Amino acid sequence: MKYINSLRNFISLSGLNHIPGPSGFNFIKLMLHFKRDSLGALESTEENYGEVVRYGWPINTVIIYRTDLIKQVLGDKNKIYVKGEQTDEMKVVMGEGLVTNNDRKSWLRSRIIVSKELGSKPIIGFSKTIKDLTDSTIQSWRDNSKVQLDFSIEMRNLTFAIAGKTLLGSDLSKEDAKIVDDAVLYTSKMAHDHMFELFPTPYWVPTKKNRLFHFHNGNLSRIVERLIENEKQSPPHETSSILQRLVHAKNPETGESLSDKELKDEVITLLIAGYETTSNTLSWVLGLLSKHKKIQNEIRREIEDSQTPIESIKFKTTHPKLYCAILEGMRLYTAIPMSSRRNLVEDNFDFYKIPKNTSVVIPVWNIHRSERFWPNALSFKPERFTGVDVNRLDYFLPFSKGERRCVGENFSLVEVAIIVSEIIKSYDLELATKELPKAVSHVSLKPLDGMPIKLTELPC
Ligand code: HEM
Repeated sequence: MKYINSLRNFISLSGLNHIPGPSGFNFIKLMLHFKRDSLGALESTEENYGEVVRYGWPINTVIIYRTDLIKQVLGDKNKIYVKGEQTDEMKVVMGEGLVTNNDRKSWLRSRIIVSKELGSKPIIGFSKTIKDLTDSTIQSWRDNSKVQLDFSIEMRNLTFAIAGKTLLGSDLSKEDAKIVDDAVLYTSKMAHDHMFELFPTPYWVPTKKNRLFHFHNGNLSRIVERLIENEKQSPPHETSSILQRLVHAKNPETGESLSDKELKDEVITLLIAGYETTSNTLSWVLGLLSKHKKIQNEIRREIEDSQTPIESIKFKTTHPKLYCAILEGMRLYTAIPMSSRRNLVEDNFDFYKIPKNTSVVIPVWNIHRSERFWPNALSFKPERFTGVDVNRLDYFLPFSKGERRCVGENFSLVEVAIIVSEIIKSYDLELATKELPKAVSHVSLKPLDGMPIKLTELPC
């Protein structure tokens, strides 16, 4: 089907020809641009074709650069918009977990259960684990004479250790943690690359890449299934992991629990959705603070002066400078630079008719960096968020909006806040390069050449 759609788009039979957009060889040129540099291609698409663009991606696609239309898709009309065909590519790894599930009834059943287990009470319980693991990472830097580190690697290792403990639990052995880490990296990257292939090789074709994919996918499933089986034997307790909580969780309205298949899909989904996004957000926020020393010092003073430990989302009010700097980092370097939806019935964008089953792309990267919404858009100015209720900003979408918004939003904000505060309490950070690295979209937004930061230990 994907192939037929690609050909239809190439010869412009997409049913979207009334909307501006590339055709023929311009389409192929842009397609290759997307494969090479998706962020650059999103920018040039807006420049060349305007705010609503028809695009012959492998499937019928419209990119919307307007916040009223984004609100229509994510909010007002969200019942007719399901996750886009691009997200379907992730099903091969995530199954029918929250990110990919398009069956509203079963999605809602799981969403209610998962939201509860990622709510404010469990977060307070996890905050100690996050702090302890951050402190042992900081200790390992002290034992090591190196004063310059690549924070994209350091944050990856730290957030993986946190995901291992908080999500999968302490039963995960060191060997299995390594297998899970490799599997998550390989499978999510390959499923993501499939989204941008014009003619992706189906997973059943026994190529070397596909065989490796199935090997990693099988390992991931096997380990998660075993952890779930083990957990069924023991009752939940205060310090239970998310997996342990989910095994015993019940929908508060219906009393239903998740089936074994649902449990496995949700656990793998949370692992993939949560860990790279948080790790990359941390690299960017710490990179920005290393470049902007004055702001770093102000936040350090705020942390030192505060009487309240960071353990819940209340840090928004107890540590406003830190909170605003995290938001500003997420605006400039949004972890998910674009997301997509598909309409189940025909819709209209103003006078443009949008046929059923069109893939609608939301270019968060462009919205977050547009002068239309953010004066001095490319500058790092955390104070622009002072006293602002971000839920009311239609043009701030790091966790998306509407009923499919991120279920781990508060968890990840608290995690990022604890890690940043522990690090800058102990070290002065300075960017080792003149400018921040180029951002590339690889599953989530990462620094192309890592994030090299020089560390100077502060007196206790
Ligand atoms: C800074 C870190 C994070 C960022 C920036 C982020 C961003 C997002 C975004 C933009 C979406 C919506 C995608 C779409 O509309 O297509 C999303 C969905 C989701 N996120 Fe996150 N996320 C983060 C951390 C986490 C964590 C820590 C978890 C879990 C522990 C998580 C679990 C999920 C799940 C399950 C969904 C799907 C929700 C649904 O459709 O019901 N995320 N995330």
